[in-house]
Amino acid sequence: MKLQELILEATNQLTQAKVIFGHGTNNAHDEASWLVLWSLGMTLDTDTTLSNPELSGPQLERARSLIEDRITKRLPSAYLTGEAWLQGIPFFVDQRSIIPRSLIAECLVNANIDPWLSLHTSRVLDLCTGNASLAVICAMVYPEVQIDAIDISVEALEVARINVERHMLTDRVTLNISDGLEFANGPYDLILCNPPYVNSQSMSELPLEFKAEPALSLNGGTDGMDFIRKFLRDAPNHLSDIGVIVLEVGHERAHFETAFSLLECVWLETSMGEDQVLLITKNALLNYPLHQ
Ligand SMILES: C[S@@+](CC[C@H](N)C(=O)[O-])C[C@H]1O[C@@H](n2cnc3c(N)ncnc32)[C@H](O)[C@@H]1O
Repeated sequence: MKLQELILEATNQLTQAKVIFGHGTNNAHDEASWLVLWSLGMTLDTDTTLSNPELSGPQLERARSLIEDRITKRLPSAYLTGEAWLQGIPFFVDQRSIIPRSLIAECLVNANIDPWLSLHTSRVLDLCTGNASLAVICAMVYPEVQIDAIDISVEALEVARINVERHMLTDRVTLNISDGLEFANGPYDLILCNPPYVNSQSMSELPLEFKAEPALSLNGGTDGMDFIRKFLRDAPNHLSDIGVIVLEVGHERAHFETAFSLLECVWLETSMGEDQVLLITKNALLNYPLHQ
């Protein structure tokens, strides 16, 4: 059997098994290509229309066994391969932390935040850093800044350390444990935050692939805003005068707007639309009665 035929076979199997996507791919063909190429030790950007080798028995066996694991265990492919990619950057990942996919990475790479930054922007906080993907990408996009990256989970921080070391950023990214901003060491000019924001109803309906991720990474309480309420209340004390927050809320814009109806914010453009990532200035926070 040739490579293309195997990918087609795997695509059909994944489709029939109704596995759920959303951890790096959004369709069966891309997911099948990822798993098959990875199992063969081929790079994921291999053009299979140009490179279509005949596969040996052991190669077929390895690939089929991985596809079977994907179907029977309902684990995201990134947990099976130990690697995820965000904005072309590779990250180590295992079940101690969520799989990197934050839309904030796009905002960083596409310079969507730049109008709110200046030459004085020097200290950044990646709050809820998890696997450290945002801290690493931020360090790459803004070579002059120093980044603190904090998380409440010791396990997630272990994964974060692997990624910070892998990208040789230990002198620019400092990892720390903290519940929210409790042990943050500001003031910061920019706070990036992809927090747990999934509301309770959605949590109870999560597909198995998403249940494989740490619940602590996702669970935002009844309306998804538990973490965000406390964060926005505490944030002004941790921001410099030019400070801004970039916050991801996923599909929870309606809940966010109900919870913070009069808070002035700017919704940033992403490939998923303009309702998942928002920016808030320190001034907007100071003008908003979060303490009441
Ligand atoms: C949605 S994940 C984001 C991970 C990573 N920044 C990313 O975008 O892939 C949320 C992270 O928040 C962390 N977290 C949950 N509650 C927290 C808290 N009270 N204080 C700090 N971190 C928290 C979780 O451990 C998890 O790593």
